[in-house]
Amino acid sequence: DPALHLALTMPKAELHVHIEGTLEPELAFALAQRNGISLPYADQAALAAAYNFDSLQSFLDLYYACADVLRTADDFRDLMLAYLERAAADHIIHTEIFFDPQTHTARGIPFATVLDGLEDGLKQGRARWGISGRLILCFLRHLSEEDALATLAEAEPHLARIDGFGLDSSEQGNPPSKFQHLFARCRALGKPVVAHAGEEGPPDYIIQALDLLGVKRIDHGVRASEDPALLARLAADGVALTVCPLSNLKLRVFPDMHAHTLGQLLAAGVKVTLNSDDPAYFGGYLNDNIRAVQAAFQFDAATWKQLAKNSFEASFASKAKKAGWV
Ligand code: ADE
Ligand code: ZN
Repeated sequence: DPALHLALTMPKAELHVHIEGTLEPELAFALAQRNGISLPYADQAALAAAYNFDSLQSFLDLYYACADVLRTADDFRDLMLAYLERAAADHIIHTEIFFDPQTHTARGIPFATVLDGLEDGLKQGRARWGISGRLILCFLRHLSEEDALATLAEAEPHLARIDGFGLDSSEQGNPPSKFQHLFARCRALGKPVVAHAGEEGPPDYIIQALDLLGVKRIDHGVRASEDPALLARLAADGVALTVCPLSNLKLRVFPDMHAHTLGQLLAAGVKVTLNSDDPAYFGGYLNDNIRAVQAAFQFDAATWKQLAKNSFEASFASKAKKAGWV
């Protein structure tokens, strides 16, 4: 399939990947050993066998438990390097990476330890593979707005190293409206903001993210297909969706790839991008997502070129950089 070959090998940007979600079982056990702690699983195979989710929450419970092996700046650096190596192998040349500081600071890991390690990994990754990486700080929406505001205060001395802010974790029951003050502050700091919306939650959460949080792009947004007026708005305003197909299957947003709304979103003219979300947990990195999408949809070369172009246009890289890419 020449279109698939093109899609796999062409330069791409990834805009939706959680660094904690790139923790492979092998590295999880290596870090547990290095830090003298034990995981509640006998071995890598037993851990991998637990990756059997029936909802976003069932995944998040395991994802937060595994993050406990991340203790030192070296751990965060090694995690970042492992992801960047795989990203480079998939011909990703630019990646905007989420990190969840509250998952770590709540365990007593200093904010600066997390950031220093991730930064070190980005620097080494750029030197080794020529890949450019940005960091997007994500707030956990199952926690309070006060908790997020305290995290933002911790982040403020490090703003030069943070390229944007996002919102993730348990969506249902935690609408964007809960974080209006927080996001107003983030925007006042001059940083772009994004939010997970319309993954498990209703289309109204996408509308809230746009109207109440002022987001520049929507993470997931796959339930926009349920609201024709919203679809038209997303297309008219050029709002990008960072769609994560294998994630949506693993978390049972859709029963199979044929039921995925990706085709409807593209047909409506929405600026769709493809991404891996939590590749260690969901069965693959970006090119694995591309293979799975192509098996179900058989897109032509022009569609794959458009998807790659969208990934650069929707990125937070400078205009000059984007001009060189697209
Ligand atoms: N955190 C990590 N992955 C996530 C996802 N797919 N949705 C919400 N929060 C997340
Ligand atoms: Zn996500």
